[in-house]
Amino acid sequence: MAIERTLSIIKPDAVAKNVIGKIYSRFETNGLKIIASKMVWLSAQEAGEFYAVHKERPFYKDLVAFMTSGPVMIQALEGEDAIAKNRDLMGATDPKKAEAGTIRADFATSIDANAVHGSDGPDTAKVEIGFFFPGMNVYSGR
Ligand code: CMP
Repeated sequence: MAIERTLSIIKPDAVAKNVIGKIYSRFETNGLKIIASKMVWLSAQEAGEFYAVHKERPFYKDLVAFMTSGPVMIQALEGEDAIAKNRDLMGATDPKKAEAGTIRADFATSIDANAVHGSDGPDTAKVEIGFFFPGMNVYSGR
């Protein structure tokens, strides 16, 4: 295992439910350190660009509409095995299939309103962190 970084987004549904702190607490109690964070109301262009990899998927339009429906909380997380650990904490993309005790099982309502996003691998994590946080806004080890 290695120290990794991953990008996490608390989506508009979870921000509206007022559970940012509860989700941050899960990161922190599981060894993930918040090394950058900001609240943003994404434009359609920003959300579309972030999710460009899904451009051809049938859910792309709804995904962009949902992600721009309210503010999101965006953070970079750092820790041992951070990418897989964050994905374990989130649970399956579809909250109906997410294991009990995961963020999506506890806070999400549908595959669209699924509370959180997390990078799915090291390459994606690097691109996604760079997309939202220029290097000087990441505070590793401080
Ligand atoms: P996220 O991890 O943010 O990555 C893409 C998002 O698309 C995903 O979470 C879901 O919220 C949304 N989505 C909607 N339908 C699907 C689907 N059929 N498969 C995967 N993701 C979907």
